Amino acid sequence: MQSQILDFYENKNVFITGGTGFLGKVLIEKLLRSTNAATLYILIRQNKNRDASNRLERMLNCELFDEVRKKRPDYKRRIIAIAGDSAKDNLDLAPEDQEELISKVNIVFHVAATVHFNENLKVAYEVNVQGTKRLLDLSKRFQHLKSIVHVSTAYANWQDEVIDESFCERSFHYKQVESMLQKLSIEEALRLTPSILKKWDSTYAFTKAMAEVLVKENSNGLPIGIFRPSGIVPSYKEPVNNWIDSFGALGLLAFVSLGIARVIPSRLGPIVDLVPVDLVASALIATAWDIPTKDGIPIYNYVSSIDNPITFQDFIASFKTHLPRYPLSKAVRTPKVITQFTTFSKIQHHYLPALLVDLLYVMTLRKPKMLPTIRKFDSLVEIAALTLDKNWQFANNNVKSLWNKMNEDDRKLFPCDVSIVDWNHHFDNFVKGVRVYLFKDPLSTLPQAKIRMQR
Ligand SMILES: NC(=O)c1ccc[n+]([C@@H]2O[C@H](COP(=O)([O-])OP(=O)(O)OC[C@H]3O[C@@H](n4cnc5c(N)ncnc54)[C@H](OP(=O)(O)O)[C@@H]3O)[C@@H](O)[C@H]2O)c1
Repeated sequence: MQSQILDFYENKNVFITGGTGFLGKVLIEKLLRSTNAATLYILIRQNKNRDASNRLERMLNCELFDEVRKKRPDYKRRIIAIAGDSAKDNLDLAPEDQEELISKVNIVFHVAATVHFNENLKVAYEVNVQGTKRLLDLSKRFQHLKSIVHVSTAYANWQDEVIDESFCERSFHYKQVESMLQKLSIEEALRLTPSILKKWDSTYAFTKAMAEVLVKENSNGLPIGIFRPSGIVPSYKEPVNNWIDSFGALGLLAFVSLGIARVIPSRLGPIVDLVPVDLVASALIATAWDIPTKDGIPIYNYVSSIDNPITFQDFIASFKTHLPRYPLSKAVRTPKVITQFTTFSKIQHHYLPALLVDLLYVMTLRKPKMLPTIRKFDSLVEIAALTLDKNWQFANNNVKSLWNKMNEDDRKLFPCDVSIVDWNHHFDNFVKGVRVYLFKDPLSTLPQAKIRMQR
């Protein structure tokens, strides 16, 4: 039996935004390794030191692509950097790149977003909402388009506790916000954001929700679907287990791994909904294949809490067990998890030690930085609590019917059934993966780091 998904990708040209991010890289790796897509065009913005081609070259040299290098030695001929920026008119594309995309692209993955919870509203709006509009406007000109996947988040409509696979009617309308923001400077936007957001927890969820409304109203007949993953965590198996290069949903744990923070709430919601990044990439690939067969704009809630739930307690217990086994060379003190989230505990374990370190900084004429860092941690905890401390009830019928539609070969090549994940086993390696891939701290430095922690 031949994989239907492989047939769909055979000789197709794929356009990806957000390809330099955590999810985007894993998606690119999987497409290069497991499909015969002809060319991947990756929209990359220039940064201070590197242009788009340079950034792509650097990214392809990372260890995530080791397996591709072995299995598909011609992979570099199949991937092209397209200089551009979602936050600028027309995605800031050069006219010749635009023409190439218009005549060649068959499949689009719109992954790019600013995912900082507290991003300035003007910036978040420009990238997450307007950037999506620009992508749709361009896609309407594609001559051989088969499918577009817009990546949203399972928590975009976070005010509802029941999240089915339909559009949220309570989202703010993007046009209302646009006219408001046009009149504001960056500084004014910052000041007025709380009154604009009202009950929304973050500029991230606010703008992601508006982007969904924009997709609904601006897709006029485009073969488009919305894919909503929950919190994305390190890879389960592919191409290696526990690959991660961004804390993303688990940003708080970076502070704990480094020993900066220790006190976290014993409960941030009954269930923590997590999905490994490699399964997300496979599901995205399968979703693009499914979309053209659907009417309207299908929405796919890609979550684990329905078929393979993890309680927050189990997650923290596992993190507590494994954290001391993999101390980081850069840890400022022995990493520990304390779940008495009381003022006394925070003063004892956060503010007093931070104050002492900052005093040392001041005495040596350096800028104090521990207190601001620990305050940042506390404000992130507050946002996380707002988002997570809910009894979320998702529906994932479209994801289930997608899985049922995949034949045996499809399922082997693109495993995306979250019920296969053995969370205990996954968390066992989780902390190790964070050390090795995220903090670039090889296991060879572990004995030294352990000795340091015992002093
Ligand atoms: N991580 C999660 O837990 C999670 C959960 C649910 C949904 N999602 C969604 O999944 C997608 C990917 O998230 P991620 O975790 O991979 O985020 P990420 O690592 O921060 O990657 C974001 C990507 O978007 C690009 N980008 C940002 N602003 C851009 C701009 N102005 N022009 C062009 N590209 C721009 C970034 O490019 P640079 O390299 O130039 O910065 C990067 O490639 C997002 O749509 C997010 O909302 C993520």
